[in-house]
Amino acid sequence: MEKPFRRRDLLGIRDLTADQIVGILDTAENFSEISTREVKKVPALRGKTVINLFFEASTRTRTSFELAAKRLSADAVNISVSSSSVSKGETLIDTAMNLDAMAPDCIVVRHASAGVPHQLAKVSRAAIVNAGDGANEHPTQALLDAMTIREHKKQIDGLEVAIIGDILHSRVARSNIHLLTKLGAKIRVAGPGTLVPNDFQYLIESGVTSENTQSAISNPQLEVCPSVEDAIAGADVVMILRIQRERQDSAYFPTLREYSVHYGLTNDRLDMAKKDAIVLHPGPMNRGIEIASEVADSSRSLILDQVKYGVAVRMAVLYLATGGSPTNG
Ligand code: NCD
Repeated sequence: MEKPFRRRDLLGIRDLTADQIVGILDTAENFSEISTREVKKVPALRGKTVINLFFEASTRTRTSFELAAKRLSADAVNISVSSSSVSKGETLIDTAMNLDAMAPDCIVVRHASAGVPHQLAKVSRAAIVNAGDGANEHPTQALLDAMTIREHKKQIDGLEVAIIGDILHSRVARSNIHLLTKLGAKIRVAGPGTLVPNDFQYLIESGVTSENTQSAISNPQLEVCPSVEDAIAGADVVMILRIQRERQDSAYFPTLREYSVHYGLTNDRLDMAKKDAIVLHPGPMNRGIEIASEVADSSRSLILDQVKYGVAVRMAVLYLATGGSPTNG
């Protein structure tokens, strides 16, 4: 099936170069001002259609993709499908082909199975944007995290970033590890041993080439720490992840209470980071489990900034996916 000229999918950060990432971030920075206007709308995507196809629960991601489309004057259609009613394989492809027959310009998809956006990209003429596929990638989350970091730290190169929690099941961690190391940051990960694999195989689970396998495993910018304190000590950015209970089929740690005692981000733990360290969490957060309220509500927490920049990043991604050119920041 022929794809329209300049159609661009965003399937993962792994496929992007550092320059492409910076191009998206610069474009997002230019778009971010639109959300501060009295009339929050520009005609950039007038006449274009965006379908949000969500097979998994979402508040922030779905809403911000919809707002992003509307602020660029695209027509947005939202489809939420409970994962129980749709199975994988042909049904999914049929759904995609039926939607594609209605000639949308972009389909934004979230699914509990890794690789679904890649499957859809093979059969659809519309640009496919990954809004989270299982434990694989969540590229727009990593982009909005990077935008938040850039806004507060000016540059990503040379920063030390601690990522704490359920690394094994987190698409947010994977996309961030790809993005932040491509832009020159050093990453330290920590969490329960069962959720933080030593060998980084988790990075390459879903069909990566052998060169990527090598670089993922021997990535010198990525370090597994024996404790949360080791990862946080001296960090510029502390990123906390939610326990992905929906992706766990067995007990990875004894109890939530125990998790919060050993791995939860409290003010005492955060004090080990740099004085001006910032705290990120992709949401939805479980207060009192992976993050204490005293941290979540403190001035060091940029959780709501992440949400704000999410709209700008998704405006940039929709614009670029449907044929726009990146702008300089
Ligand atoms: C994340 C997701 O769905 O992967 N949430 C989000 O998009 N803001 C993280 C999570 O669910 O823990």
